[in-house]
Amino acid sequence: MEYNLDAMYGLKDEVAVITGGSGSIGAEAGVTLASLGARVVLLGRNEKKLGKIQEEYRSRGMEIDIGTVDILEKASVQAAMKNVADKYGRIDILINSAGVSYLEDAVDFSEEKWDQVMGVNVKGMFLCCQAAGKYFLEQKKGRIVNVSSVRGIQGRTRDMAYAPSKGAVNQLTKSLAIEWAPHNICVNAIAPTFTVTEINREDLKNKEYHDWVLSRIPKGRFCELKYLVGPIAFLCSPCVEFVTGQILYIDGAWTAA
Ligand SMILES: NC(=O)c1ccc[n+]([C@@H]2O[C@H](COP(=O)([O-])OP(=O)(O)OC[C@H]3O[C@@H](n4cnc5c(N)ncnc54)[C@H](OP(=O)(O)O)[C@@H]3O)[C@@H](O)[C@H]2O)c1
Repeated sequence: MEYNLDAMYGLKDEVAVITGGSGSIGAEAGVTLASLGARVVLLGRNEKKLGKIQEEYRSRGMEIDIGTVDILEKASVQAAMKNVADKYGRIDILINSAGVSYLEDAVDFSEEKWDQVMGVNVKGMFLCCQAAGKYFLEQKKGRIVNVSSVRGIQGRTRDMAYAPSKGAVNQLTKSLAIEWAPHNICVNAIAPTFTVTEINREDLKNKEYHDWVLSRIPKGRFCELKYLVGPIAFLCSPCVEFVTGQILYIDGAWTAA
C-alpha cells in the first residue's frame, strides 16, 4: 500500500472556523491551519483586535477572514457559522479555543463568575459544536478540536469554575465523538499545560504560584504556543479519521507524573 502523506496532513481549501481567534492559542492555530492551505475564519468579540491580527497575517503573506461572535448567545453563534457557510459553501473544521478563567477562594467565588466561566467554556463550546455540527452532518464530514486543559483531570486550589468547566469539556468531547462517529465527524481535544497568555499572565506574576507551576512540569519549563501547533494540525488533518473522542495532553509530562 502506498500512502500520500501530503494529502493525509494537508488542508488545502478546507474551511476552518476558530473561536477565541483573537486570543493567543486561537490565533496561533489560525496561522497553523492557514499555512497548511486552509481558509481560516477567526472569531472573537472584538472586531478591532481581530482586525489587528488579520493585518499581522497579511504582513506575513497570509489572507484570513474574521468575524464577530459572543458564544454566550445562541443566535450570535448560529449567525457566525451561517456567515461562514454562506460565504465558503461549507465548514470543515471547528477549533473551540474561546475560554475564561478566574482564581479565587471558594467562599468568595461569585455566582456571576461561575456563570461566565461555565457559560463560555462549556455552554458556549457546546453551542459552537451544535451550530457547526449541523453543517458537518449535512456534509458527512467534519473535525472538531476543543481546547481543554490539564485542569480537566486535575483540581487546583482557588480554581472553582475553570477546572470543573474543563472536566465538562472532556466529557462533551467524548459524548459528541460517540454520537457523530458514524457521520465521519471526529471530535477531539487538546489539553495544554500552562502557556503564558492573557488568560494567566496576571496570576503567574505571583512568584510562589509561578514557581509551583514550574515545579510540577517534568520538562522543567512552561508550554509555548509552538508546541501546540503540531498536535492541532494533526487533529484537524484528514489522517485523524479513526482518532476521535481523545484528549491529547500537551503538558511536558505533568499528567504522567
Ligand atoms: N494559556 C494557557 O496556559 C492554557 C492552558 C490550557 C488551556 N487553555 C485554554 O486555551 C483557550 C485559549 O486560551 P488563551 O490562552 O489563548 O487565552 P486568551 O488569549 O485570553 O484567549 C481567550 C479567548 O476567548 C475569547 N472569549 C472569551 N469570552 C468569549 C465570548 N463570550 N465569546 C467569544 N469569545 C470569547 C476571547 O475573545 P475576546 O477577544 O472577545 O475577549 C479570546 O479570544 C482557552 O479555552 C483556555 O482555557 C489555555
